[in-house]
Formats: sequence, C-alpha cells, structure tokens
Amino acid sequence: MLTSRINHSIFRSSLLSWYKLHQRCLPWRTTKDPYKIWLSEIILQQTRVAQGLPYYERFITQYPSVTELANATEQEVLRLWQGLGYYSRARNLHHCAQTIVEQYKGVFPSNYRELLMLKGIGPYTAAAIAAVAFKEVVAAVDGNVYRVLARIFGLNYDIGTLQGRRKMHAFASLLVDPIEPDTYSQAIMDFGALQCTPVCSFCATCIFKNYCMAFYTNRQKILPVKTSKIKKRARYFDYFILQYKNLIYMKKRTKNDIWKGMYDFYLLDNTQRLLLEKIQDPLLVLAKRHHLSITTLEKEERHLLTHQNLFVKFHKIELTSTCLEEANYFFEQSALVAFNWLEIENLPKPILIQKFLKKLNSI
Ligand code: ADE
Repeated sequence: MLTSRINHSIFRSSLLSWYKLHQRCLPWRTTKDPYKIWLSEIILQQTRVAQGLPYYERFITQYPSVTELANATEQEVLRLWQGLGYYSRARNLHHCAQTIVEQYKGVFPSNYRELLMLKGIGPYTAAAIAAVAFKEVVAAVDGNVYRVLARIFGLNYDIGTLQGRRKMHAFASLLVDPIEPDTYSQAIMDFGALQCTPVCSFCATCIFKNYCMAFYTNRQKILPVKTSKIKKRARYFDYFILQYKNLIYMKKRTKNDIWKGMYDFYLLDNTQRLLLEKIQDPLLVLAKRHHLSITTLEKEERHLLTHQNLFVKFHKIELTSTCLEEANYFFEQSALVAFNWLEIENLPKPILIQKFLKKLNSI
C-alpha cells in the first residue's frame, strides 16, 4: 500500500473547515436528544437523506419521544415505516424503544458500550449516538466513511470482509477529533454524501485534491475495495387477489423473514416459474371446481433485494356466493382475512404490495 500524503490533524481540521461551509441543515443536527439522533440514524441506514427526511418528520410528529414510540403497536410502527424496506429494522426500533422505557426509565444509555447492548443498535449506530449526542470519542463508520478514508488515505482493506472492516475501523478511530467528535462524525458523513460520492464526479473541487491517494493514483473507482460474496436466491411469486364484493382477502406474514408482521395476499412461492395449471394447490383446485376465472393482472415484475431476486405475478380471482362456503374453509386454513379498501390502506404492507394496490386502484 502506498503511504498516505496527509497527516491526521490536517485531515481533521480541513474536514471541519469544509463542514462549516457546506454542512446540510438537518433536523437531527439541531438537537442533542439521543432519541432523535438514534431515529435518524436508523432511518438513514435504510435510505438517503432526501427520502429519509419525511419519514423522520412523520415519526417525530407521531412519536415525539421514546415513550410514545414504545407505547405504539408494532403494526402502527410498521405502517409508518412502510416504503423504507428491511422491516426488521422497524421491529427492532420498536422493541428497543420498549426496552429503554422498561429497563432504562425512558433514558437512553449515554455511552457506546451500553448502547451496543440494545437490540437493533449495532456498532455504527452506537458510535453515532455516543459521538453526536454524548461527545464520546468513537468512530461511527458507515459506507460513506469507508469510501472517504479508503480514497484519501489509499487504504486497500477489503470492506467485504470482517477483517478489512476491522482494519478500516481501527484506522477511522485514530482520526476522530478528540474535542469535537460530534461535529467530526457529521462532517465526515456529509463529506461522503456531498463531495466524495460513489460515482466520484467532484474531485476537481475537492479540498483534499492535492493529498488524496485515490486521486493521485487515479483509483477513485477502485476504492474502497469490496468483494461481494452474496449469492442471490431467485424466487417466483404468484400472488392471488381474492375478492368478494368489496372485500379483499389478505394475510399477516408470521414467518420470521424480512416481511414479518406485514400483510400480503395468498402466495405461491416457487424456485422456478411454473404454469398455474401445473401447480397443485387448494386454491387452484377450488377455483377449478367452481369455474372461477383467474385473471393475470401483471406481467412478471422484478423486485430486487439484497439477498434475493423476486419475480412476481399477480392474479385476480373474483369469488361468487356459491363458492363461499368452501372458500371460507380455505380462508380459515390459510389465515386469510377479509378487509375493505379503507382497512387495507392502514395495514402495513411490503412496498411491492403497496405499489400493486396503487396501480389496481388507478385502473
Ligand atoms: N447518513 C447517516 N447518518 C447521517 C447523518 N447523521 N446525517 C446525514 N447523513 C447521514
């Protein structure tokens, strides 16, 4: 590895000067309330600032403190989180709020070590809260920080590996400003978000231009190094919208997966795309016996997640009163419950379902 061209104290002071001029005014930056800082960090792990801001505002309006959040139902929290994805974060958020109320009398622990013990608070979030709310000298290292440090200091550590992330973290820890760890944390995040962006188009105006190892060796596109080991699983979904009069049948997902607690339709989930005629399933048997027509509403849609690619088709079946008795048995067995449109609007749903319902409503 080539050695860096800038020392730590110049890096720090240059970064803080840059931040004074370029910082974004964000609502969680005008407070030292650990609840608000925590909430913002959890939301921002999920999305960019522009998309995350309205979610943050809605959460703070609805739940101004950790107590209100703890008193909400999981379903309400999931509904407010809807659209951000990765719903286990919302469940952990809720669970963590309850722990803070029940075990800490509603007062956030004020140091990194204790914060880390809370469910859903990992090293990054614990460090961000500790540094920003409590001025602890710890490094909050996220994707932005990896990128900035790897490029400026020419670090080749592979952040796709635990060992690489550890080395990066150790390096980042030495850089944190001992007097203003709070401002430093925000500064390096903004620098990564505004200046040292992933596509890297702002090198010409960068204050570190004369020091940056990546710029010097033209490796901006290579750094940070990240090998990927993720092998994606393909899943082929057939969703059935079962409608009787103005009611639609939906079910709450109970399986411990990314959509636990959310509502969707009756689902056939296969590892390859099968023709409906080839699938053995009680719903399809029922539809055949009662001559119910199955209308396929969507061509196959792709929904690409971190660990899996979903290929999704939606089919509609309108139920008739003659099939209802038999259908009711099937609904019971499949934990399907009838909802009207207004009720459906208020249910937490995977974004894939939400988008589909929106389209269906506008037809
Ligand atoms: N990304 C992650 N945390 C952030 C923060 N506190 N401010 C802006 N962007 C962020």
